[in-house]
Amino acid sequence: MTRKIIEAHYVKGSLTPGEEVFLRVDQTLTHDINAVMTYLAFEAIGLPRVRTECSVSYLDHNLLYIDHKTPDDHIYLQSAARKYGVWVSRPGNGICHAVHAARFGVPGKICMGGDSHTPHGGAIGMLCIGVGGMDVATAMTGVPMRLKMPKVVNVRLTGSLRPGVNAKEVILELLRRVSIKGGLGKVYEYTGPGVETLEVPQRATIANMGAEMGATSSIFPADAQVKKFLTAQHRADAYTELLPDPDVVYDEVIELDLSALEPLAACPHQPDNVKPLRLVEKQPVQQVFIGSCTNTSYADVARAALVFRGHHVNENVSCTCGIASRQTYRELMRDGYIDMLLAAGVRMLEIACGPCCAIGQTPATNGIAVRTSNRNFKGRAGNPNAKIYLVSPESAAATAICGTFASAEDVMGPDVAQLAAIHEPEQYLVDDSMLLPPLPSEEAARVELVRGPNIQPLPVPEAPADHLEAPVSLKAGDNVSTDDITPASAEFSSMRSNIPLMSRYCYHRYDPGFAERAKAMGRSIIAGGENYGQGSSREHAAINPMYLGVKCVLAKSIARIHKGNLVNHGIVPMLFADPADYDRIGQEDVLEIEHFRAQIAARRVTVRDKTRGFAFEAVLDLTDSEVQVVLCGGQLRYLKQQLAKETT
Ligand code: F3S
Repeated sequence: MTRKIIEAHYVKGSLTPGEEVFLRVDQTLTHDINAVMTYLAFEAIGLPRVRTECSVSYLDHNLLYIDHKTPDDHIYLQSAARKYGVWVSRPGNGICHAVHAARFGVPGKICMGGDSHTPHGGAIGMLCIGVGGMDVATAMTGVPMRLKMPKVVNVRLTGSLRPGVNAKEVILELLRRVSIKGGLGKVYEYTGPGVETLEVPQRATIANMGAEMGATSSIFPADAQVKKFLTAQHRADAYTELLPDPDVVYDEVIELDLSALEPLAACPHQPDNVKPLRLVEKQPVQQVFIGSCTNTSYADVARAALVFRGHHVNENVSCTCGIASRQTYRELMRDGYIDMLLAAGVRMLEIACGPCCAIGQTPATNGIAVRTSNRNFKGRAGNPNAKIYLVSPESAAATAICGTFASAEDVMGPDVAQLAAIHEPEQYLVDDSMLLPPLPSEEAARVELVRGPNIQPLPVPEAPADHLEAPVSLKAGDNVSTDDITPASAEFSSMRSNIPLMSRYCYHRYDPGFAERAKAMGRSIIAGGENYGQGSSREHAAINPMYLGVKCVLAKSIARIHKGNLVNHGIVPMLFADPADYDRIGQEDVLEIEHFRAQIAARRVTVRDKTRGFAFEAVLDLTDSEVQVVLCGGQLRYLKQQLAKETT
């Protein structure tokens, strides 16, 4: 399925895994806390209108207008969408991934989204890839997108989920087996008789959290379940079948029996730290959040509500619920499930990402938070001292009742079988009144962009110099996440349109002195361990260090999306040829690279540690076009060159 879609969108390059391929992109999506930079870049490129079939700007993450910054962003984004021929999903309509799959997704198409969980849309047989905001701006120009041709892993599902066991368990089990790095350079393609038993939102939970394995994407067949889903969304015409060929040969095969799964939990502080829920120590839980794009479909929340029936939220637990879309919220309200949640003492939140990205509902110091979302890095909930466990909505409800880790079966006993009767609605409550369609070109051309004081210019990096001498401003450890580099929370999210302000907080929880030190150094290099830049697609984790003068990241390994963001924003990503050299260098050591540009082009760089008097080798795991982008000084300069060539 993956190869069929890639071949149908092929422009140039190689179809050999690991090599570079260029693809036509049909759709893009952006969301409010990343997108201002994307639209500023599109504006700087100078095209009058997007050249995709469909681009959507979602205003969905931060709806807490605690000061002028977020409304400034939302007003700018709405004006940019109106000007450039982009749909707007207004605040309150829903979280990008849930709305996009339901209202815009088309099997067989390619969607690039400025959010790492964009693969959610793989649930309907679409190839959806999470990229940085600059890549989305590129896709909107119609310039073919570069991608490393992925390997395709077949996950063959058999059996069916037992009542009280959720699709969350499928992806947690895979994370347990594969780890947070195991999916690098791979698309997970789900097949087998077990797939037929999974409804589209269940598939979406699995595809969504494929991002936690570092995968390029995940995809399910466009089959009878997808047809049923799109028909129930009144979009039967969008359906086309997409199935794997009977004689398909995959790069790798994983077998997974759905019937054998039991409730699981991802324990702090990584989503692959997975254990059976029954083995998690029964400590007091302070907070439960049933929400996020990952796991709040109709059936998810209805099942959680049934677990609550006849019970109340434990007096020591703060339990909130944030539903992924207005459509789902209204259906749950119509069918009485919201009332069941309220009766149990659950606090209903806005239809937004909210707590998932630390916008509200911060756990207490050392508090244990149990969440149905997809990430549990330190600080992801806004408090680095809290411990986050990821579970299914059924287990979250049971935990909220018991005040400690519990499964639906612990609360319901044999009645847990009743949960099996809950399915997605036959007909969804379709209401697109919160979606603003693109304006006709003439009207769009007259739209003025509205720039409040929070909208500051996009910083543009310089091309690398031929001689670099710079100190190490930070020696970071393994698994540094983009949350460590640029923290999530209402306060910081609304600074993302204002780099001079936000860069002051770069690494501020991980190393509070970093921003001042890097600025004082003028130009510097960051050294990192394994899996540097894992987690969210947040390109600010590249933009802020670039603004502070960071020229290179030199790590043992770098997460896929973050590496792309470094390239796009003019920071040279380099890997230690011998990882043992990481231990030999120290923070504040002065590193020197001669003939830097020629060495970048050769993808092998000799670095001299002047402080300690030794030299070592670094390699650049970059494609030809990424090398060109790096040498140009980032994607914006590169893209302008490409478009100028197109017009001459
Ligand atoms: Fe939003 Fe969290 Fe999903 S931030 S897009 S609900 S991963």
